[in-house]
Amino acid sequence: MDLGLSGRIVIVTGGASNLGRAIALGFAKEGARAVIADVDDAQAKKVEREAPSGTIVARHTDVTDWDSVRSTVDFVESSMGRVDVLVNCAGWTIDRLFMEKPRAEWEREIAIDVWGFINCVRAVLDKMVERRYGRIVSIGSEAGRMGEWREAVYSGTKASVIAMSKSIAREVGKHGITLNVVCPGLIVGSPETSGSNSVWSSEQAEKFTPEVREKAAKGYPLRRLGTADDVVPAVLLLASDRASYITGQTLSVSGGYTMI
Ligand SMILES: NC(=O)c1ccc[n+]([C@@H]2O[C@H](COP(=O)([O-])OP(=O)(O)OC[C@H]3O[C@@H](n4cnc5c(N)ncnc54)[C@H](O)[C@@H]3O)[C@@H](O)[C@H]2O)c1
Repeated sequence: MDLGLSGRIVIVTGGASNLGRAIALGFAKEGARAVIADVDDAQAKKVEREAPSGTIVARHTDVTDWDSVRSTVDFVESSMGRVDVLVNCAGWTIDRLFMEKPRAEWEREIAIDVWGFINCVRAVLDKMVERRYGRIVSIGSEAGRMGEWREAVYSGTKASVIAMSKSIAREVGKHGITLNVVCPGLIVGSPETSGSNSVWSSEQAEKFTPEVREKAAKGYPLRRLGTADDVVPAVLLLASDRASYITGQTLSVSGGYTMI
């Protein structure tokens, strides 16, 4: 199926590492131009170099900071003409029991996962409404659908991304704009595809030893953990015109981890 993404202008937040990286490269492969909006400049540049010249552009952006987000959206609008697609992929967590979690970690989760979503969606909407076209795909999480163990506040942030996407989808559908959420299960990143700011370069990676991963995989009906590439086709489809009649939906890409 031709997704018709060639020539589309896409912003992928958190596009430097793991899932975001695979998504940005996926858009580039379809002939779209992807702007990686990430705080990790070195890793974003690395991904830029992995793609055919000009198809990926790294742009320093802190999604928690409205001025930074606004400046990136202005940059893309003025240098590339428009933003057709926003993929909200920047996110952060460290798995810990609720009663053992320091407040600073909750605040970071809420700042990146909730405020990041709000800032980025708000920043692209004016021009999308004006042009009567837009696709917003956000990376949620199975945690946001089920309330995952050791991920209380993170689960709340992702449930919030799902609920906000539905609410905004109701408001802007009349302008030809869709919002949908893709929910992965556990996808462990690797040093080859994740930068120093990735959760997979933090103590989160140490929690998922090969033994823990093997045990975790048994909780998935398809009996394996996902890969970043597993998530890409769903994102590309929802970002395309083939999905023009799909909005406000949540799609799990998780080997059947939840079936809601
Ligand atoms: N990996 C998983 O198991 C998993 C499962 C479900 C959902 N998710 C979600 O998928 C998304 C990507 O996960 P991942 O494993 O690729 O994470 P990752 O940590 O490997 O990558 C996240 C990227 O976001 C960037 N980032 C962090 N803070 C930022 C900020 N303030 N502004 C801009 N960029 C920022 C990081 O630099 C990094 O490049 C997240 O939203 C995560 O919650 C991941």
